[in-house]
Amino acid sequence: MKKEIGSEFWTVEQTAKKQHLFNAFKRNQRFFLSGRTALEYLIKNIKETNHIKKAYLPSYCCHSMIQPFLDNNIEVTFYDVLVEENKLMIKVDPNVECDLFYSIQYFGFVDEQLNEFVKKTKQQGKLIVEDATHSLFTTKAFHTEADYVFASLRKWTGLPGGALVWSKETLGDPVSKTDPNKAYIEKREAAYRLKRRYIEGEPIEKNTFLTLFDEAEQILGKDYRGYGCGQEIKEQIEHLDIAKIIKKRQENAAFLCGKLRFCEGIELLYKAVKQDDCPLFVPIIVKKHQRDPLRVFLIQQNIYCPIHWPISPMHKLNVRTETLYKNTLSLVCDQRYDTEDMASIVDAIIQFFERK
Ligand SMILES: Cc1ncc(COP(=O)(O)O)c(C=O)c1O
Repeated sequence: MKKEIGSEFWTVEQTAKKQHLFNAFKRNQRFFLSGRTALEYLIKNIKETNHIKKAYLPSYCCHSMIQPFLDNNIEVTFYDVLVEENKLMIKVDPNVECDLFYSIQYFGFVDEQLNEFVKKTKQQGKLIVEDATHSLFTTKAFHTEADYVFASLRKWTGLPGGALVWSKETLGDPVSKTDPNKAYIEKREAAYRLKRRYIEGEPIEKNTFLTLFDEAEQILGKDYRGYGCGQEIKEQIEHLDIAKIIKKRQENAAFLCGKLRFCEGIELLYKAVKQDDCPLFVPIIVKKHQRDPLRVFLIQQNIYCPIHWPISPMHKLNVRTETLYKNTLSLVCDQRYDTEDMASIVDAIIQFFERK
């Protein structure tokens, strides 16, 4: 087996027994190809009965969350998400006029900051859309006040696609195309197959599957609207081994937080893992402009940590909100790995700063 940490998945953790994971939410539910497909769908669904001119989004987000609003002629303004006193701070301005508030809890750490604001916003009759992509497996997946909730599952495991929308509102005709985007799914599945063989030790050139992953994302970026996720993916989601995903991630993230708490070159955005959390990654702030050099150093040790997120022309940032994008690194803590792997990440980070 090849030993490397992070980057794309190659397996999906399954249980024999079908899980009724999301039925507890007691809301209408629909499956989609990807998070952006789900978001675009729910925006269209909302627009059928509401006049929405302006949406209020977090400055810290992926361009794929902004695009569906712009594509549907909704003006977007941003509230600041930044680091203050080494903590992630969410600064909503209650005086900003908007018809729709977009809420998100980051990285699978339960965050109470928006609770009061969400309650007040709801009382004012504004719509609340919650992106539960990161918070889905925490004990509080989303605010009960949220009118529409969606989550993409692609970042949690090796599913080629899969996202859900939940709402108490009627969810209209789901999608124009009930099948997934075949070109995208086939490319991504081919990439997974090659990566699996590579990890199992076959002499496969890394670039062959990296190129396929990249091409698949480009197809999705151009053609994501109106797709369901297909029966096979739906069944994989319904058999997802959530208990394992939560347990492993909690253990791994707790190990990273414990060992890196006092590492001088970095700051943990969340200092510890609580029982209610299910970390997607362990985000750190790398001090003194060392984020990119640290990332390169980790890659040299076969540790691949993503950056959330690339800045696009759709983002509107100021110096402070941009600082978060430029200094954050997401440490891998997922269910593929155990304590020994986490220790390699810690050792590599410590080694990087000792060399300085
Ligand atoms: C918080 C969040 N919401 C939505 C999305 C979009 O999901 P997808 O890539 O499945 O379209 C992402 C993707 O990175 C995300 O991180």
